[in-house]
Amino acid sequence: MKKIRKTLIAANWKMNKKVSEAQSFVESFLPLNRSINEVEIVICPPFTCLPYLSTALNGTVIEIGAQDVFWETEGAYTGEISTVMLQELNCRYVIVGHSERRQIIGESDLIINKKTKAVSSAGLIPILCVGETEEERKQMQAQTVVSRQLEEGLQDIVAGELVIAYEPVWAIGTGAHASQGDAQEMSSFIRHKLAQLYDATWAEGIRILYGGSVKPENIARFVGQPDVDGALVGGASLDAHDFARIVRLNRND
Ligand code: PGA
Repeated sequence: MKKIRKTLIAANWKMNKKVSEAQSFVESFLPLNRSINEVEIVICPPFTCLPYLSTALNGTVIEIGAQDVFWETEGAYTGEISTVMLQELNCRYVIVGHSERRQIIGESDLIINKKTKAVSSAGLIPILCVGETEEERKQMQAQTVVSRQLEEGLQDIVAGELVIAYEPVWAIGTGAHASQGDAQEMSSFIRHKLAQLYDATWAEGIRILYGGSVKPENIARFVGQPDVDGALVGGASLDAHDFARIVRLNRND
């Protein structure tokens, strides 16, 4: 059955690639994707590569996104980057609440909410990441945690364009991806939660991505699930050929 929501495949390069490496990636990747239009492709590079990608991908179907943002638009916030600066570089998406920022940098749901709010009100699209740790899953707390992350992350945010990425922490960068059944179960739970927080019609249109050790070999199984609308891809998005296979959902046509 064809889904009403367009599949979205987003690359999260994390703290990888200098500008010269981004250039080699684009040179290899672009010719591999000439005929793809049923999948929306987004690349989220480090901030330092955004000016280059903004020019290099101009006129292509590939969108660019940032990996983080600060909630104020300008001022004395040493080291931070605002939505205004991202818009100047043609960013359309911003990842917020990635588990590496929650765990390594210590971002709370309150901070993530401020960032999500800033992104939405600037007219950019947040990719809000949620997901439980291994310990929380073992203790059967996965849905409780995701539910809290959604409630607090989306507090006071009006229904608008939004993407949710379900990324179980134990599956990120480990090679141990979630089963397609678990990804579907949590995505369906997330959609119900969004329907409760907002309304069912809006929730039906929201794309929910799976993230955590997505590879060319397993992508088709995830996007084959009724509530999984694409993927947020870390490690496998660094290689142009692997990422191109993921974007093609590992098909050869
Ligand atoms: P991974 O990372 O694909 O390397 O597991 C996914 C992510 O952190 O977004």
